[in-house]
Amino acid sequence: MIYLDSAATALHRPPAVEEAMARALRTLGNAGRGAHGPALAASRLIYGVREKIAALLGVSDPARVAFTANATQALNTAIGGLIRPGDHVITTACEHNSVLRPLYRKEDQGTELTILPADSLGRMDLDALEDSLRPNTRAVVAGHASNVTGNAVDLQKVSDFTQAHGLLLIVDAAQTAGELPIDMEALGVDVLCFTGHKGLMGPQGTGGLCVREGLDIPPLLTGGSGFRSFDRAHPAELPEALEAGTLNAHGLAGLGAALDYVLERGVEDIHRAEDALARRFIAGVRSIPGVTLYGDTDAPVRAPIVTLNIGDLDAGKVSQSLWDEAEICVRAGAHCAPLMHKALGTEERGAVRFSFSCFNTREEIDRAVRAVADIAGED
Ligand code: ALA
Repeated sequence: MIYLDSAATALHRPPAVEEAMARALRTLGNAGRGAHGPALAASRLIYGVREKIAALLGVSDPARVAFTANATQALNTAIGGLIRPGDHVITTACEHNSVLRPLYRKEDQGTELTILPADSLGRMDLDALEDSLRPNTRAVVAGHASNVTGNAVDLQKVSDFTQAHGLLLIVDAAQTAGELPIDMEALGVDVLCFTGHKGLMGPQGTGGLCVREGLDIPPLLTGGSGFRSFDRAHPAELPEALEAGTLNAHGLAGLGAALDYVLERGVEDIHRAEDALARRFIAGVRSIPGVTLYGDTDAPVRAPIVTLNIGDLDAGKVSQSLWDEAEICVRAGAHCAPLMHKALGTEERGAVRFSFSCFNTREEIDRAVRAVADIAGED
């Protein structure tokens, strides 16, 4: 089997992840809910994972890293807590539904929304930010890289705009945490939302948001916090303010082990390896008659994602053939990113997405190129 669906979820992981999770199942109690050994072990472990995320993503105070179940919950927390009726928010057509749907819900409740268009290569025009500015603009919500095309956004340029106008910048780093270098504080990002199960190579059910110093976000969920139990209101201190209920200590143990790998190897090296595989794949499929590539495949900085169609074949059928005939795992369809597919002209039949891990090999890439050529040859 060749797994080329890491943008959906990692399957290749450092072996230490599985070992850490098995150990956690045997040893951890409930973090922040007791003073006995297993409870303290859970608290210490989770604090250590906060420190690793903070080191990776450029956050000075690990307490400002709050864990959630996934990037969707993190984005709902940030958008739900910070955007009010009457505010104006700018986002882009490149976004995943985890950004678009919480914003549409806000729009239904009286928030004004501008969606910057993407061009036919799926690129957003950052110069359009200035034209979208209104007196009530409060925030820009933008993904760091598209889950459909792999196109990356110049966060520094977006941040220059938000800082010049006193706006909040909320970033969806679901497709880039662990794969492209991110220094949240140097970039001037206000809230950075991430998931643990893609580029960070941790387990599903892990993710979170990093909140810049001085910014308070009202919680999406309230409930058990492990302290100040007689208060009616959920505590306002981070990270507990955004972590109601028992944390996923077992998952976070796995994420911690994955982060050890990422930090030791270095994001730059992981990016170099994945980028080389993606560009090898692009070079291989580009010349196959009938293949249409989407996205800005020549851009210097990209996430390791390549999306294509073959002739006029249905994307779902191509993905099924790749699995049936070559045991290659890819994701076809709309990828929960409807506006991006509209921009690419693929809203009817979708497209076939190949996404790469630093553990894929060049031989796997070459076999995938041959499999695409075989399908194109049959068409
Ligand atoms: N958001 C994930 C993807 O792009 C699931 O496939």
